[in-house]
This record gives sequence, C-alpha cells and structure tokens, in this order.
Amino acid sequence: MTALLLGLDTLLAVACAGLWLGAGVIAVTTGDSAGAARSRRTATWLAGAALAATAARILVVALLAGAGWWFVEDRLLLGLPLVVVPAVVAVAVAVPRLRHAGLAAVSESRVAALLLITGYGAAAALVDVFVLGYPVSAAGASTLVVVVAALAAQTLPIGRRWRAGVAGVAVLAVLGSVGAAWWSSRPADRLSMVDHSHHGGVSVASLRGPAGGAARQFTLTAQHARINSRDALTFDGTLPGPELRVTQGDTVEVTLRNKDIADGVTIHWHGYDVPNGEDGVAGLTQDAVPVGGAFTYRFVAKDAGTYWYHSHQRSHEQVPAGLYGSFVVTPRDPGPGLDLSVPVHTAGGTTLFGAVDGIGRRTVPAGTPVRLRLINTDDSPHRMVLQGTEFRLSALDGGDLHEPGPVSGKAIRVPAGGRADLTFPMPATPVWLTADGNNARGVALTADGATAAPPPAVGWPELDIMGYGTPAPTGMDAGHVDRAATLVLDRQVRFLDGLPRFAYTVNGSVFPRIPPIEVREGELLKLTVVNRGTDTHPMHPHGHHVLVLSRNGVRPSGSPLWLDTFDVRPGEVWEVALRADNPGLWMSHCHNLDHAANGMTLHLAYIGVSTPYTMGSATGNHPE
Ligand code: C2O
Ligand code: CU
Repeated sequence: MTALLLGLDTLLAVACAGLWLGAGVIAVTTGDSAGAARSRRTATWLAGAALAATAARILVVALLAGAGWWFVEDRLLLGLPLVVVPAVVAVAVAVPRLRHAGLAAVSESRVAALLLITGYGAAAALVDVFVLGYPVSAAGASTLVVVVAALAAQTLPIGRRWRAGVAGVAVLAVLGSVGAAWWSSRPADRLSMVDHSHHGGVSVASLRGPAGGAARQFTLTAQHARINSRDALTFDGTLPGPELRVTQGDTVEVTLRNKDIADGVTIHWHGYDVPNGEDGVAGLTQDAVPVGGAFTYRFVAKDAGTYWYHSHQRSHEQVPAGLYGSFVVTPRDPGPGLDLSVPVHTAGGTTLFGAVDGIGRRTVPAGTPVRLRLINTDDSPHRMVLQGTEFRLSALDGGDLHEPGPVSGKAIRVPAGGRADLTFPMPATPVWLTADGNNARGVALTADGATAAPPPAVGWPELDIMGYGTPAPTGMDAGHVDRAATLVLDRQVRFLDGLPRFAYTVNGSVFPRIPPIEVREGELLKLTVVNRGTDTHPMHPHGHHVLVLSRNGVRPSGSPLWLDTFDVRPGEVWEVALRADNPGLWMSHCHNLDHAANGMTLHLAYIGVSTPYTMGSATGNHPE
C-alpha cells in the first residue's frame, strides 16, 4: 500500500508540474484577440486539472503520513507548500474575475502570472522528490524557495533592478549548494572510515581469530579462468569457488592467494560473525591482497549453518564475476543424508545452480533425509520453488527456525545475499528445485534416476516468514534498548566521486559520507529501516545477526527471526535489534552490490575501535 502511494505521489507530482506550468505558459502568452478564445479555454481546463491533481496529491500525502513521518516530512514541509500556497492565491484572485470576465479572466495578467508561479512551485516540488528528499535540509529547502521566488519575480510588476537582484541571489544559492555538494564528493586519494577523534584505542588489526591450532586448513587461489566460455574471476579456477565445509567448533584457517587479479582481492565471510580483523573488507579491516600476495583468515566456527564467502574488494564487480563460494558449518553429529549447498548465481544472463548451467540431476534413495542449502549470491531476490514434496524451511541465514511447519505450494523468497535451508525426506517420486518460474534450470532429485521435467510453477504465493514456525525465547529484551538509529533508504540525485548520479541514499547521504552508527560494546541497538524508494534493499550488517522486531508495525508471530540480510521492500519499515557483542568496524550495506557501490553503504562503528587501513585511489582499496 505504502509503495503504491509513493508511486502515485511521484506521478501526481509530475502531473502537477506539467499541468500548472502548461496552464501558466498558455495563459501568459494568450493575448486578448478574439482568436485567443481557444487558448483561454485550454488554459482554464489545464488549471482545473492542475487543481484536481494538487488535491489528489494532498490526499495521497495525507494517506502516506499514516505510514510514518519519514515518508511525508519533505512533502509536507516543502513540496506541497510550494504548490499549494501560490495555487490558493491564484484561485482567490481568479474566482471573482471569472464571474465578471468569464474565461478571459485566465489570461488577465495577474491571474496568468499566478498560474505560472504555481507552475514554478510545482516544478520545484519535483526537485524535492528527486533531489532533496528526507530529511529536509535547511540549505536545500531555502535554495529551492529562493529559486521559485526569483522565477516568480520575473513575472511580477516590479522594477528591473529587483528582478535582477533576486535572480542573482538565486543563481548564487544554486551554484553554492551544488558546488558545495560537488566539492565534498570529490574522490579522496586516501580515506579513513574512522574520524580522527577515535584514533587510538583498539585497532581492527588486533581483533583477529585464534593464532594457532587450526583443525581445518584451506587455501583459495583467486585467479582468472574461462568458464562456460566466459571470462570469470574465480577461486581455484572453479565457479562457484570450492565449498568450504567444516564442523561446528573447528578452528578454520583459510589462506587466500592472489594469482593474477590486478585489482586485488579479499574474502568476506558473509553472515559469519567472525572477529573484525577476519571480516575481509578492503580498506577497513585489511588491505586488498595484491597479485602474488596472501592473507590468512582464522576463526572458530562456533555457529552451525549455511553461509557463503566472497571478495569484498570491488565487490559489485568481483562477486558477479565469480569470486564467491559456499561456507557450510555442520553440527558435530549431522546424521546421514543428502546435505547439498546450492549457491544460485546469475552471470551473463544465465543462472547457475551450484556449478550447473541447466538442470542438475541426482539420484537419491527414497527415505533419505535431504537438506538443500540455498544461497542467493545475486543482486536481486530469488523466488525459490520446491516441487514434488512437502518440506520445512528449517533455517534462514544460518540460524535454525523454531518448530518450522510443513510447507507446500509456496515459494521461498531468498533476499540477495540471504540463505534458506529446506529439509524433507526424499519421496519415491521426483523433487525439483527451480527459481523465478524458470524450469530450465535448477536441481532435480529422483529416487529412480528418471528424468521427468518439473511441472510449471508460476504464480505461487510466497511463504511469509513473519508468521512461520512458533515463538521461542530470544534472550533479548527489546523493551530495553540503549541506542536507536534510523536508516531512511531512497534514491536521489547525488554527486558520487565528483559525478552526478541517480544514487542510492541513506538519510539523504551516500557512501563514504553517511555518518556511521556508533555503539559501545554490550549495548542493544534498535535499528529502524525505512524504504522510501521503489527498489528492494537487502540490508546486510556485517559481524552481527539482527533479531526482527517488526515489519510495518507487525511483530513476527512465528519463530524468532535472526537474520543477517533482510529485504526491505518499497514502502516497508523494519525494526530490528542488534546486540553489540562483536567489537570492530563493520560495513553495513545494501546487498544489491550495485546499490552499495552507488551510495548505499555505511558502517557500524564501535566507539574506541580504529583502523590503520584506508580506502581510495591512492590505496588500492575499494571495498564496494
Ligand atoms: Cu556479502 Cu559486505 O557483504
Ligand atoms: Cu539496495
């Protein structure tokens, strides 16, 4: 509903601008010759339509206000007044004249000027929608008002000097604010994610895993390879990279080597709450590993579950290009059965399920317990469909759900970066896993080796995780939070590295200038995430799982949801709680990596933690 209202509001804002400007321009240019009657009629009709559109927009904004102040602040304080104030004056002046002069009133100079001024206000309201947004800044708002005032002055019967004066002020205001925005966005050669008042304290370089006694050792070599006749960036020459499978409690040691990837690489353990120095973010927790270099990650695999790893250097290029793999931690005694990780990855228009381009077939004896660990390594959500059996959604983002009930006929939505474990006993008949209604790719399990094709599965409803499973204690008292922060996500015109972009913003800012969320160790942080835009944003805080408190004001009625990647869809408001129990500097971003690279990246910074690493062109570190 909120998403619909947001869309409608944008349409009405565009309509208002077009109609008021149209009415104004026609009215102003219509003379009083007899032949001008048609133009007058057109202008009057346009003005009427503009009034109707304005009234509709007021209604939509009023309805939007019900979803939260974040959705309407700028519209109420800036966008609507810019139109409504001149419109009211225009109507007040025009109505008595209409009685006497009829339609000719519209082309009378005062009325015409007011219509045009309303048009300027309506056009400025569009600037509010696409450029200013939430929160309203005094500088932005006053610049806009000055511009409208200057345009209005050009139509009013005032002295030339006055006109020139206000126009000058407006030009200076625009140049000043655009210039300042551009100046502060210039790419830095070397940028630290921690402000200087925080230097000293604990360095991320000391927040490392255990020094020795590794039970499981791996080496991953980042290298170019040609796969399915395409160039790929890979770990060990395979797509996906090797699955790393360890047992809960193991100390894991992974040495990353870079054979030939000129930009450098790192490994981030997505969803795994490793010590900060093992988090693999170039320029924040380490330097990108250059060609010929190496970096060794060590941590204790304390949580069982489904995770994945990927490069966090130029991740919006390197992850799609192939630098990813599954990371599975099995419980100490997993029991027999088929336990399969299925990283889903889209590149060059095809979607791989694991390493398979097409349908991957397996023969599984009937009665075998099966666990499919679905991993979405892409930028957009996948609707995963399991056909041929009832199943349980046993885990999300690595964490077991409480008393998951049987599911059938429902799609499982896996956010970008998220994971879902589906479990079921293998039936005697075939089972198919596919995604997004595409039956040409996926996984087919059969008890007898037959090769039947999956039936079509379009239009399946999604399982709503907010009401799935049963409640259980969380050990978190959400009534007692130490800190709260709000992230309002949107899409706006911003300078990024000195260039104008239609960027992805958080509270109106873009990376690297979004202020970090600061916490102290031990605190309980409540995060409110609001999506004002039209894109889905899979938000991913590193180093922590968050407990979902509510979505659009509704608390989960089923299993507690501990997630590391949660999809905030257009118009949604999520409240989540995060226990600050893992000190460090943690990147937090949208896992649509393209959005992350276009602004939607910030940090969770523990007070007292600093980093010796820097990012920017002089450093070779580009985490996003
Ligand atoms: Cu999988 Cu910072 O991300
Ligand atoms: Cu996003």
